[in-house]
Amino acid sequence: MKKLNIDLADRSYDILIGRDLLAKTGRLIAERFNTSRIAVVTHPSIRQLFGEQIASELTTVGQAPEFIEVPEGESSKSLQQAEAIYDRLLEMNCDRKSALVALGGGVVGDLTGFIAATYQRGIPFVQIPTTLLSQVDSSVGGKTAVNHPRGKNMIGSFYQPKLVVIDLNTLHTLPQNEFRAGLAEVVKYGIIADARLFAFLEENAEAILSQDSHCLEHIIETSCAIKAGVVEKDEHESRHRMILNFGHTFGHAIETLTGYTGYLHGEAVAIGMVQAAWLSTETGRCSEDVPHRITGLLKKLGLPFQSPDLKSQDIIESMYHDKKTEHNQLRFVLVKDIGSVEIVDDVPEIPIRKVLDRPPS
Ligand code: GLY
Repeated sequence: MKKLNIDLADRSYDILIGRDLLAKTGRLIAERFNTSRIAVVTHPSIRQLFGEQIASELTTVGQAPEFIEVPEGESSKSLQQAEAIYDRLLEMNCDRKSALVALGGGVVGDLTGFIAATYQRGIPFVQIPTTLLSQVDSSVGGKTAVNHPRGKNMIGSFYQPKLVVIDLNTLHTLPQNEFRAGLAEVVKYGIIADARLFAFLEENAEAILSQDSHCLEHIIETSCAIKAGVVEKDEHESRHRMILNFGHTFGHAIETLTGYTGYLHGEAVAIGMVQAAWLSTETGRCSEDVPHRITGLLKKLGLPFQSPDLKSQDIIESMYHDKKTEHNQLRFVLVKDIGSVEIVDDVPEIPIRKVLDRPPS
């Protein structure tokens, strides 16, 4: 088992990465904090796969966990769903010493974190991410939220978990397209901070796709370490943390305009990263080699790299409505070289249009 620590003073916590960790959850929690009751928030299908392993071991260390099931899909990240869970926690007499466990992907993690942040002014919670995307991104760093009909993640707070447990065994049951989509975020870490990680992905794409143990451990650990370092510097995203949004400005516009059904988040981010790289070239920050290398790696990993047929005007308007837009300026994370990026405010529309109107390559 590998252990990383995220150093945030009294909100510091461990990220544990390894195999067969689910069956040790109770002990791992008990070593870190005392809790009177535990409720595990999850989806029915995830409970079926892993619920037993977690429950039996939590029971042996004195906790009989309650399972709270929520339907799969983004629609569970709602205030209505949160209210239903508050009701359950009150029925269970959960107090401020009770803890929540988020067992699932980003939807479960974001929703559970939001409830933990607000129930009785905050109770401890543990993230057990079961998708690659949530293991390398959303379970680490304390972003919690539910959606509002007018926008994703509009209601939420920064609230750190007490522990993150990443059991690589959970990836065996993940559909291949979701696994690949998670890899897009790993590619992102290479681009924003670690040229060696990027080269490792280029050299080991095949082994990674076949979930080679050593490769998986290496890329997940490296990704989490990069994210931990960024969050330690700028927990509340005053600026530096925005580098984690590389590819997301274009990506969110694609997700919005395709009604969140055309692409998985990681797939839209993959396309967005190619566009952000071309915008970097277009604004004189890097050579064409950078977007070409990114495209080459995404191809090897079986990820999309070409924008769907959308009007550039619609994409630009959607970007202006993004919650990441401030003072009506289009801000982008742009690449200087693989492994190095900068945050650029007020990028003019002309190079953006040029990138959006590029013929497919
Ligand atoms: N997913 C980006 C962040 O956690 O800041």
